[in-house]
This record gives sequence, structure tokens and C-alpha cells, in this order.
Amino acid sequence: MEYDVAFVGLGYVGLSSAVCFADRGINVLGVDIDAKKLGMIKKLNSPIHEKNINELLEKSIKKKKLSLSKELKDVTKAKIIFLTVGTPSRKDGSIDLKYINQASKDIGIAIKNVQEYFVIVVKSTVVPGTTLRIIENLEKYSGKKNSIDFGVVVNPEFLQEGNAINDSLKPDKVVLGINSEKDKKIMFNLFKKIYRKNLPIVYTTPSNAELIKYANNSLLATKISFMNYIARIAEQIPDGDVEEIKNAIGMDKRISESFLNAGLGFGGSCFPKDVKALIAFSKELNINSDILQSVLTINDTQFMSVFNVLNKELGALEGKKISILGLSFKPETDDIRDAISLKIIKKLLDKKAIVKVYDPIANNNVKDIYGKSISYSSNSESCIKGSECCIIVTEWKEFKSLKPKDFIRLMKRPLIIDGRRIFSKKKFNKLEYHAIGLG
Ligand code: UGA
Repeated sequence: MEYDVAFVGLGYVGLSSAVCFADRGINVLGVDIDAKKLGMIKKLNSPIHEKNINELLEKSIKKKKLSLSKELKDVTKAKIIFLTVGTPSRKDGSIDLKYINQASKDIGIAIKNVQEYFVIVVKSTVVPGTTLRIIENLEKYSGKKNSIDFGVVVNPEFLQEGNAINDSLKPDKVVLGINSEKDKKIMFNLFKKIYRKNLPIVYTTPSNAELIKYANNSLLATKISFMNYIARIAEQIPDGDVEEIKNAIGMDKRISESFLNAGLGFGGSCFPKDVKALIAFSKELNINSDILQSVLTINDTQFMSVFNVLNKELGALEGKKISILGLSFKPETDDIRDAISLKIIKKLLDKKAIVKVYDPIANNNVKDIYGKSISYSSNSESCIKGSECCIIVTEWKEFKSLKPKDFIRLMKRPLIIDGRRIFSKKKFNKLEYHAIGLG
């Protein structure tokens, strides 16, 4: 075999995993139908923004550990084939499996006349039962038998954007849904070359592995919405402060301190999509999902806290100068999919405000959507200059170094809405400082 593994789909998960595996000495083939994306990768220019990814890309391509192809049939040059295509939402929130169906059909056709035991690894996020359909497709188009001529395993991904390389190499856990000892052995032999010795590997059934991914993301999203709900209560209480509540409850080991940050809500390509898909899947099973529905409702309305302050402090927004610091859905990425900033900008423009924005790396992505209807600054100081309100939408590190005196010196009115609790309430109390979850 020319390659140890192939990745079908070089999006966030596919590309990050491909360069990390290659860095561990595995011979990797990356396949994607998008010629533009492949062109960028070949020029050692990662299409996704991630710390260290360009260095790893350069190293792995130069050492010939990572090769690229536009042809799906090339996957037969690898023994283990990872499916890392996207699983977007349909209009009704349910999962759209068109890329999964196409890829599994094409892999089936590709392996038809090749005498080799392939393991197909479902890494894309898919609702329980999808892997059975993938197996059906593979059998139909290859004429081969699952578990005899090939194996299918489920290996969900838990990496966070902005920390993809580190998470890919050092995950908290690896989940592997398997049907046979043979597949378990093949996957274990691969994983032992990549992960630390004592990494917990959770062996389970394929359907459980599929559900673990949704349970993981939905519970994290629930923690966030729950804290945003507590934040709303704290805001109505004199001296209330959600941060103090977070610090105290986070000390309870059963709760843990992570993902308890109240803010303007969660965005990105995963939480909103996966929570919606789990709701749609529950509906098919006739299971009430009010709990997740509430998670979404809180999230969809959380950004309105900004407008509550604006209405109270500035009244009608027509002609008012508002600056926004942070556009990406979270720091360390230029990704603006489902970013809260987009909703805030839209509403500000509806109200005819004059909007100036700044993000360390996501300005251009927002420009593609809002063009000349807003203005873009190249640093935070020029963004807040002359403005009547500054809204912190994404908690980029560099914003934390802004001092009260900077806002006083530069703004027309030093009204701050800290949507991510980046400033100290004590230091900022000499300004008009409003913050999520602060009474
Ligand atoms: C999420 C999961 O954390 C990953 O484990 C998973 O692999 C990934 O989805 C996926 O399914 O592919 P990601 O979307 O990259 O990762 O970003 P997170 O760091 O989880 O943040 C999601 C959103 O929640 C962001 O908008 C962030 O600002 C918000 N958030 C996060 C909060 O509002 N409060 C918190 O305490 C934490």
C-alpha cells in the first residue's frame, strides 16, 4: 500500500487530522474535490486559519508524508479511509447527508475491484444509524460484504477550532465505534503511532459513538445557555454577577469550570448545527426535546441584551456611532459561521446606526457579507475612536489590554458593553460599563 491512511474531505477536521497524522510519520493521502482548496494546500497555504498548521503542512508535504489528490478513486491506495466530509443542516435543522452519501457511494465504486481489506472510518458528525446507511451504500456499490471484505468504524472528532492541532494530537479521549476485533486491532495499531500511551480509548458500538458526539456537543451548548440564563437573572439583581456564580459552581467537580462562561451566545459551525440535528433526530423518534429547544431559544435571543442596553442608554440608534470589537465566532479563528457579530451588525444596520468593526483576522470575511454598509478598522483604537458605544463581541486577547483611559480618550462617549466579560468590573466602574450577567 502506498499510503497508511486517506482523508476524504479536507475541511477543518480532515486537514487538521491529515497534517497531524503526517507529522507523526504516517503516510497520508488527502482527497478533496475542491481544486481551489487543493491548490492552496499544495502551495503550503492552509485554507483554514489555525496555529502551527502552515508549519506542519510545509513539513509534511516536503517530507512526502502528505500527498494530495482530487480523485476519490485514489483512496484505494490507502488501507484506512477516513470520511471527513461536511454534514450541514437542512432548512428544517435536520442533518443533510448528501456529501456522506456521495462519498460512500464513490468509495464503494473505488474498492469494487481491489483485493484488500479496507477500514472506512466515519469521522464526520452523523446521527445514529447513519453508519448503517453508509455500510449499505458501500456494499451496494462495491458488491462486497461488510465485516468480511471491509470494515466500518465510527471515530467522532472533538477538536475545537483555534486549537485544532493541539486537540488532534492530544485529545482528552478517543471514541471508537467498532463491530469487530479485526477493525479494533487495525485502528489501535494506527492510534498507538499518533497518541500518547495512556490516552483513554473508549470502545463502543458504532451507533453509540455517533450519539456520543451529539451528546458531547449538546451538553456543552446546554452549559453555555444555562449560564446565559443565570446571567439574565444576575443582571436583574443589585450586585448580581454571573462571574462570581460561575467561579463558585465551577469548583464543584461534578459541574467543572469549563464552558461556564456567560456571553452573547455560542456560534460556529458545530453547536448550532448539532443541537438542531439532535432535535430533528429526536422528533423522528417521538422524543420531546424541549431541553435542547430551550438551549437554542436562549442562544438565539441572548444577543438582545446588547440592544436592551443600547435602547436604555442611547435611545433611537439612527446616526449613532457604534463600534464592535471582535467578529469571529470565537478568538483564534477567522471563522464567522453563525457568529453572533453578524446578528448584531444586521440589527444595528436595521436601526440605521453607523457601524465600525475590528477583528484581528476576520474583517475580510465580514466584508464579503456587509461590504461597504459598515466600516472596517485595522486596530481596536481606531475602531473605538469617536464612537458612542463599544461592544465587545469576541474575547480576543489583545482587547484585554485596552485600559479605561483608552476608552475615555478615544470615544465620544465611553459607553462599553462587555459581551464576553473581558474587563475587570472594578477597573471599569469609572466608565459607563455594562456587562453580560452584571447587575
Ligand atoms: C465545538 C466543540 O467544543 C468541539 O469539541 C467539537 O469537536 C466541535 O464543536 C465540532 O463539533 O466540530 P468549536 O465549535 O470549535 O468546538 O468551538 P467551541 O470552543 O466549543 O466554542 C463554541 C461557541 O461557544 C463559541 O461561540 C464560544 O464563544 C461559545 N462559548 C464557549 C461560550 O459562549 N461560553 C463558553 O464557556 C464556551
